[in-house]
Amino acid sequence: EKGNHRHFMAKEIYEQPEVVGHTLTQYLDMAGGTVRLPFGDKIDWKSLSRLTISACGTSYYAGLVAKYWFEKLARLPVEIDVASEFRYREAPLPDQGLALFVSQSGETADTLAGLRYARQNGQAILSVVNVPTSTIARESDAVAQTLAGPEIGVASTKAFVCQLAVFASLALAAARARGTLSAQDEAGHVQHLISLPGLMARALELEPEIEKLARELSKAKDVLYLGRGTSFPLALEGALKLKEISYIHAEGYAAGELKHGPIALIDEDMPVIVVAPHDTLYEKTVSNMQEVAARGGRIILITDAKGAAECGIEPEATIVMPEMDPTFAPIVYALPIQMIAYQTAVFMGKDVDQPRNLAKSVTVE
Ligand code: M6R
Repeated sequence: EKGNHRHFMAKEIYEQPEVVGHTLTQYLDMAGGTVRLPFGDKIDWKSLSRLTISACGTSYYAGLVAKYWFEKLARLPVEIDVASEFRYREAPLPDQGLALFVSQSGETADTLAGLRYARQNGQAILSVVNVPTSTIARESDAVAQTLAGPEIGVASTKAFVCQLAVFASLALAAARARGTLSAQDEAGHVQHLISLPGLMARALELEPEIEKLARELSKAKDVLYLGRGTSFPLALEGALKLKEISYIHAEGYAAGELKHGPIALIDEDMPVIVVAPHDTLYEKTVSNMQEVAARGGRIILITDAKGAAECGIEPEATIVMPEMDPTFAPIVYALPIQMIAYQTAVFMGKDVDQPRNLAKSVTVE
């Protein structure tokens, strides 16, 4: 049931603080300040040579965020590809390799085929799924369940942030096991994870501002999303969400790629949405924004108070997010991205829960 909400998608967006909190209770020992995986010691993180991640759509973008976390925190090399490519490209897979498949439904045909390929090629199989009885879960050696509850809206929202919460926990567990994270730093990260639901609730309060923005965005024919580091997958996710439900053409790009092509598109008609918390890469993104501004581009900046103060240009609009530790910030920055797509599509009168041509679960390739 939709409760007080107009659409399932809105209900699911608003449930996110709660479901992320719920998921985290299964992966953290909150009092002890440590990670505690529900499947125990099934994965030998220490002896892994490489992690191979594969998934489709939004689940793939969650995997892309996870790549940054596993590499940085656990010093674990990560390969990632969309499942429709991974399953056919005959990739050589390493000894002591772990393959990780991400799927809300657990039934996506390409992802399942990728899993079977990895199994045949000697990989241990871990899956991150929302439906524990699904085929992908049944065929895995270990299952990390996302506790998002049933997701009805075709556009994935709460499943995505729960996938991210699980990945944050897995990356910390891997880092501890591999000796790249001290107990003290683990406790610090766990504290940040615990604070996320509260920060997400504050991000939801930005909805009235985003509603105003949506009116402008609804007039656009194309929208460009930019981000660096873990904000890059969020840029991809933002563009996918907008395409799916508003049918406005959108593209996500790594901000550093701007001058390698997409800058040619910049004019006063194309909004550029920049996802940029004030992290170590912020200055780099600022110079990309200046390049856009110098060409008359319209910038919508999603940042925090520090970022807003230091951006050095006058964006057309700034969404000011609460301050937070940057490591797991994507779990909170996903929300304005989703709300932008939702509000734009609703303003345009689109059927956000049942977008044309799309199915909730893609069980044929
Ligand atoms: O059930 P899955 O997570 O395997 O589904 C993967 C994609 O089909 C899915 O994320 C799709 O991209 C969504 N419609 C995105 O909103």
